[in-house]
Amino acid sequence: MAEPHLIGEGMTGGYGRGADILHGCTLSVEKGKIAVIVGPNGAGKSTAMKAVFGMLNLRQGAVRIGGEDITHLSPQDRVAKGMAFVPQTSNIFPSMTVEENLEMGAFLRRDDIRPTMEQVYDLFPILRDKRRQAAGELSGGQRQQVAVGRALMTQPSVLMLDEPTAGVSPIVMDELFDRIIEVARAGITILMVEQNARQALEIADTGYVLVQGANAYTGTGEELLADPEVRRTFLGG
Ligand SMILES: Nc1ncnc2c1ncn2[C@@H]1O[C@H](COP(=O)(O)OP(=O)(O)OP(=O)(O)O)[C@@H](O)[C@H]1O
Ligand SMILES: [Mg+2]
Repeated sequence: MAEPHLIGEGMTGGYGRGADILHGCTLSVEKGKIAVIVGPNGAGKSTAMKAVFGMLNLRQGAVRIGGEDITHLSPQDRVAKGMAFVPQTSNIFPSMTVEENLEMGAFLRRDDIRPTMEQVYDLFPILRDKRRQAAGELSGGQRQQVAVGRALMTQPSVLMLDEPTAGVSPIVMDELFDRIIEVARAGITILMVEQNARQALEIADTGYVLVQGANAYTGTGEELLADPEVRRTFLGG
């Protein structure tokens, strides 16, 4: 069997010369599937995402996309390989318009970006209405749509999202999850970190519980939701 489309395997490392934050952490996602990382604050979820995206020097482990080893590539070179990353904070340019944000997302492309922009507007119709407005004037949920849309402008094969629903209402969260499912159905591989663990595991093909930079529990979303230990420790019973 071919290996999963995205793999971060046995990742060990930390920031600069500091202590290791990740301890042999492994994450993988099949093509067009959704993997969700959950775990307590400070568990290293964002650090694991940064490691997969090449923002951390790993002491051990490897990252592969489509079977190709990209462990030593810069984030920009990973974008060229099909990775897109929406970080937890500062994920839009607030003073630029919605449309300028989308254009920034496509800065590496030399072909016609119009069709992709239309796809983003079809996915998030509110952004079409607000395309001439400064992104910083949008609501939290709309800004997250800008961030996701901007990431999609590179036509990635892998979309990585760090807490895409942070600070939004439950209704907006459900809506955003529906859009993420739609993106996955289009064949894009999704790796995301979520604070709303229960709801996120409901849409997860694979779930990872990280604790202190290591894999604590792994299973399908369904399995983790049914696991008494996971429920008691991480899902509030
Ligand atoms: N830029 C950085 N430089 C040094 N240490 C960092 C840096 N960013 C995070 N850390 C440390 O790495 C550890 C893991 O942090 P990380 O942000 O990955 O956790 P997290 O699981 O994403 O938490 P949260 O749920 O709060 O977003 C923490 O101890 C944190 O202090
Ligand atoms: Mg985080």
